[in-house]
Amino acid sequence: RFSSATTGIAEDGSPNFAFAFDIDGVLLRSSSPIPGASAALTHLHNNNIPFILLTNGGGKHESARVAELSKKLNIPLTEENFVQSHTPFRQLVEGSEETQSLEDKTILVTGGDGDKCRKVAEMYGFKNVVTPGDILMAHPNIWPFNQIFSDYYHNNTRPLPRPIDPANPSKSLKIDAIFVFNDPRDWALDTQIILDLLLSKEGILGTYSEKNGDPSLPNNGWQQDGQPKLFFSNPDLFWATSYHMPRLGQGGFQASLEGVWSATTDGAALRRTTIGKPHTHTYEYAEKLLIRYRAKLLGEPAKKVGKLDRVFMVGDNPESDIRGANEFKSPLGTEWTSVLVKTGVFREGSNPTYKPKVIVNDVLDAVKWALKQQG
Ligand code: G3P
Ligand code: MG
Repeated sequence: RFSSATTGIAEDGSPNFAFAFDIDGVLLRSSSPIPGASAALTHLHNNNIPFILLTNGGGKHESARVAELSKKLNIPLTEENFVQSHTPFRQLVEGSEETQSLEDKTILVTGGDGDKCRKVAEMYGFKNVVTPGDILMAHPNIWPFNQIFSDYYHNNTRPLPRPIDPANPSKSLKIDAIFVFNDPRDWALDTQIILDLLLSKEGILGTYSEKNGDPSLPNNGWQQDGQPKLFFSNPDLFWATSYHMPRLGQGGFQASLEGVWSATTDGAALRRTTIGKPHTHTYEYAEKLLIRYRAKLLGEPAKKVGKLDRVFMVGDNPESDIRGANEFKSPLGTEWTSVLVKTGVFREGSNPTYKPKVIVNDVLDAVKWALKQQG
């Protein structure tokens, strides 16, 4: 059971520490709760100790996923304490000083079941979202081996907003950015379409940019400016599922695309932006959400950010959860402490590349250990 002492409670009764929990391999294996997961979250909930779920998973809107997880783990969750791999892409709708708004641009979104990720992108506010399936249905010969998937694509594609017309670039559909929201289901088609776009003249399928495609020119000219930017949401090469061995994740698709790109361009680097754990952008996003959530939980006025001294990051993957927490330099000076569990990717007895503060059996032990640190 838990030690009754949960000190580390500030004078106003609010705990100055919190938790960030990874999902796959910590709380769930595929869709089954891991023993102790519900008890661990329930204890924190009953003691008003703030926590967020921070996953490299995705493929559904946050509202749908938290409804599912609340039922599965028997714990009230909301979008206010939940971050998925693609959640931070919301910021690109309105943009910022560094990045232009993509709200009205045409973006390609791939990954996930059917066109669920298109719908997620539209719920974020992206107005013109196209999928590789839409392109295939409009131009079946763009990928010769598409027959086996035709039923699949029939049921979740839309007509293209504009025709793809390489001969009339000004009238043709132009893709301004490419997003991989979740694990692609049809690596072959997605690889072909993304490669075409990266080699294209300014995002117009069926064209090559001046430099690209001309072997006489230096290959370091690939990905000229004006071509679509490429965004990945999750670098995980492997993840923990109901199979006893880790399975290839979205990072596997990224590595495969990188191999095709390198072979096509005699080794040119693939320019891309990747978010998701262990990348700082995702930890910064998660910490801001956690601070806001803590303020709300403790009834503090929203404007008062409140002091969060420590976040315990509980994860199963040393390459993402542990590395991210160890390397994150919180702009607010919050200390992130990494806790590795044995119920996911990490195999007991192996030597993790990124060393956690502690290795424990499971999420319940992780919470007990952390509460003792605060004692
Ligand atoms: O696709 C999900 C997988 O990459 C790992 O998810 O919850 O362990 O960060 P999670
Ligand atoms: Mg995990």
